[in-house]
Parts: sequence; C-alpha cells; structure tokens
Amino acid sequence: MRIFSGIQPTGGMHIGNYLGAITQWLELQEKHECFFCVVDLHALTLPQDPDELRKATHQKVVELLALGINPEKCTLFIQSQVPEHSELAWILNTLTPLGELERMTQFKDKARKQVASSVFAGLLNYPVLMASDVLLYKTQGVPVGQDQSQHLELTRTLAKKFNQRFGETFVEPKTILKKEGAKIMSLADPKRKMSKSDKADSYLGIFEEPESLKKKVMGAVTDTGKEIRFDPTKKPGVSNLLTIYSLFSVEPIQKVEKKFQKKDYAFLKKSLAALLIEKLEPLRRKKKELDTRDLYVKEILRRGQQHASSLARATMEEVREKVGLLEP
Ligand code: TRP
Repeated sequence: MRIFSGIQPTGGMHIGNYLGAITQWLELQEKHECFFCVVDLHALTLPQDPDELRKATHQKVVELLALGINPEKCTLFIQSQVPEHSELAWILNTLTPLGELERMTQFKDKARKQVASSVFAGLLNYPVLMASDVLLYKTQGVPVGQDQSQHLELTRTLAKKFNQRFGETFVEPKTILKKEGAKIMSLADPKRKMSKSDKADSYLGIFEEPESLKKKVMGAVTDTGKEIRFDPTKKPGVSNLLTIYSLFSVEPIQKVEKKFQKKDYAFLKKSLAALLIEKLEPLRRKKKELDTRDLYVKEILRRGQQHASSLARATMEEVREKVGLLEP
C-alpha cells in the first residue's frame, strides 16, 4: 500500500505525540511504501517568524530521524521543496465548494482563536492543500488522528469530483486511524491532557535530559492516600504514572499495577523515571548527533525531494493535460 502522512514543523513533541503518531509511522515504514512529509506550507496558515520556521522545519526532520524514521525505508521530504503541492492545491481549489471549507470544524476552531483580521484565506484552504498532498502521490492510505478525518473525507470528495469531471485520475485514499491508545495526562494536572503548550513541569519532552525527566516525574502531582492502583477517576495522578509506565515497558496495565501494589509513590516515581531515561536516552543521543550533521540531513532531504518530485511531476502532467492547460 502507498501511504502518505504529514507533520507540522511547529510545536514540539512530548511523549504522548511520540506514542500516538510516530510509533505508527515506524510500523508502517516496515511494510508499506511510505511518504512522510514535513508540511511547512501548512504552518504558514498561522503567523510564523521566518527564521524560526526555517529552523523548526530542519529540526523536525532531525527529530523524525532520531525517532527512527528511516530514509532507506521511506521517502522523507519537505512539502515546499516539491512545488507541485501548491500547484495541485490551486486546481483543487477551483473544485472545492466554499461552504464545505467554512464547515470544517478545525477551521472554525482555529479561526475562533485568532482575531478576525488575522484569519486568512490560507487557513480556510488548509484542507485543500492537505488533499493535494495526499492525491499527488495517488496515496491509498493516510495515517492520521481523529481530528483530521474530516479533512480526509474532503480529500476523497475532491478525488471523486475530479475523476468524474476529467476522467479517472486520483485514488480515493483510506483513513488509517491512529489507534487511540491510553491518553497521557498532564503531570501537573492529571485531569487534563498532556500538552506542550502548558507549563514545562506538566509534560515530558521526548528529547529531554535525564535530570530534567527525573525532576519532572518526581514532582508529578499524585493523589491523596498511599495506595497504588489504577483508577483514573479516583486516582488520576497515580493512574497516569502507571499508564506511562505501561506504555514504555510495553506491559499491560494490570501487570504494572501488580508490580507496584505494595510499594509507595516515591518508589513508583523512581522506577518510572529510570524506565523513561533508559528508553529515551538513546533517542536523545541520536538527535544530538544529528544536530551536528546538517549536511547529512540535507542530503537525505535532497533524495527525498528527488523521489517525491518524480512522482509529483508525473501526476501534474496528467492533471494539466486533463484540465486544459498548455504544456509548461
Ligand atoms: N493536517 C495534518 C495535521 O495537522 C498534517 C498534514 C498535512 C497531513 N498534510 C497532510 C496529514 C497529509 C496527513 C496527510 O496533523
């Protein structure tokens, strides 16, 4: 199966993002023909500082490589380096009813958070660019979170519409929903989801120093009482620590619960800190190494761009001819 997925360059990764999205990419790259794309053009739909954006885009590639995205097994590239993404987006824009874009829940959410004068057409057209990312490669499957499934429905609608009007061209891609694993909650407020936009002591970054991981875990909010058991309503703090332990040790939660049954909170925290450090330290080292190897990373991106471009160009030739544009 041919797979495409995208990740925004902005916004750091905490352990929840890693366990949710990236581990799925790692599995897919073993069995399928995968295209993984850092979507810098999508990032432009909200105001960005130019230098920061450029840095963040390179950093995101480094992070993906450090986490195990393997350029020998998949095509890793940057969206803006394959200009066909924008070109196809324009053409799909001419087939997209305005009303459908205005109804998109993510658009409404994001627009609500901006003052009206900073809601730009790019934000409205975000899903069309996403559709063009996917359709350009005649992708069959798209791994995403639930929040993106409305965008993929539109992608299928646009594929169908184009095919009906201009003849069979695009593949209607399937949504591969991210397995909704256990939710990881904030360390500071275990009733809320872990988020990188909250205070630093509330989340665990994937590339954090061992000392800092330890400090945050030891300082995590726990619950009244002493007993360790998995009960997210009555014991949200302890349950969250057990959840994280279970995900990183790849043991079922009952087994983890048993392991800590007769222990105290401090022991649970120490064990969790040690486990996190053991699992995350190799990733942090890998990232540190890649941070010094700019040319190597750029070479990977160049190869990714070349491969993606060859497919993108072929699709666009077909599209141009079908919609009635002259040869370039
Ligand atoms: N919109 C996606 C997100 O925010 C990122 C994305 C852009 C994407 N283009 C894509 C995901 C194409 C899958 C396929 O998560």
